Amino acid sequence: MHTNNLLIETLNGDITERPPVWMMRQAGRYLPDYRVLRDKYDFFTRVQTPELAAAITLQPVDQIGVDAAILFSDILVVLQAMGLEVQLIENKGPVLPDPIRTQADLNRVRVPDVEETLGYVFDAIRLTKQELNRRVPLIGFAGAPWTLLCYMVEGKGSKTFDTVKTFCYTQPVIAHRLLQMLTDTTIAYLTQQVKAGADVIQLFDSWGGLLSPDDFEIFSLQYMRQIIQALKKEVPTILFAKGAWSSIPEMVATGTTAIGLDWCIRPDTARKMAGHVVTLQGNFDPARLLSPLPELKKEVIKMLNGFGPGRYIANLGHGILPHVPVDHAKAFVDTVKNHRYQNREKQVFSSL
Ligand code: CP3
Repeated sequence: MHTNNLLIETLNGDITERPPVWMMRQAGRYLPDYRVLRDKYDFFTRVQTPELAAAITLQPVDQIGVDAAILFSDILVVLQAMGLEVQLIENKGPVLPDPIRTQADLNRVRVPDVEETLGYVFDAIRLTKQELNRRVPLIGFAGAPWTLLCYMVEGKGSKTFDTVKTFCYTQPVIAHRLLQMLTDTTIAYLTQQVKAGADVIQLFDSWGGLLSPDDFEIFSLQYMRQIIQALKKEVPTILFAKGAWSSIPEMVATGTTAIGLDWCIRPDTARKMAGHVVTLQGNFDPARLLSPLPELKKEVIKMLNGFGPGRYIANLGHGILPHVPVDHAKAFVDTVKNHRYQNREKQVFSSL
């Protein structure tokens, strides 16, 4: 039990007096205190030093008042653990100098012992849990196998990820070997995150929406299903596949507790597609946080009313942008925290 247990209660299907709220990528990016640590230590030092990772994780809890913490880390640490070099270049993003593109390259990839290679993440979770002292739950996370394959093969970010798609469509056997290795590593990694104290797990499939619905099943969903199946008896899970809302029914069928949504779908459409068993999370356009405050608040309330009471976690539809003013991020969170569900029983009854 946490002092503020709204997130867990909502994931359990309880109708609380208001929805819980947190923001994807809330740890880091826009907070001035993060920027201070960013000037002092390079990215992977921040990620690999449990004291720094815990301090950054706590910043949005202390300064913005969100209802959940998400561990400060990155999805790409799994690729490092599997044997690849990953650099983070200022103003450019991640770069993998030796991407995987051929059968011969497979020799450079291994399914690692996660304790040995990612022990610093579990240490960071244990330390963060201590410092949180049960105030709010802690969300652990990993990248979905497909999104990790995108970086593994492309070697950097991309708008279209044509190289990885060409790889999948011309060398499917190697692609599936890699996706299964990523899946096995991720299951071991997330299982240890839960053992270390993560209360909820989110899977980020940031590039799932680049695939057609059929290819999404083949190259992404069948692997996420394995991960959800392995984890769901341990903790609630949130599946966020950006741009893949046409596959909501299939995502629900994985057995995940919740589904993350981007802003390109209306709340009622998402609810109709998802049914009433799953919790929905999202879906404020991150750029909308730059609207003038009165308009921002109006848009947040519209979103809250759109999703209605119960089985809903307020969030952005993707990560917070680095240049969002802190008072705008706080206005987003405060507008949700000041919201109260009206006629809870009646509305829930009528939606069944
Ligand atoms: O949610 C949180 O606040 C926890 C921390 C977190 C980070 N990355 C820290 C980070 C999480 C959950 C991630 C996930 C992640 N990383 C994703 C999936 C989510 C998404 O936004 O789609 C992806 C695709 C990555 C890969 C990655 N890492 C990119 C593309 C970049 C560079 C651009 C950027 O700022 O996102 C990173 C670096 C990174 N990861 C930063 C942070 C705070 C920025 C480092 C800095 O400039 O200080």
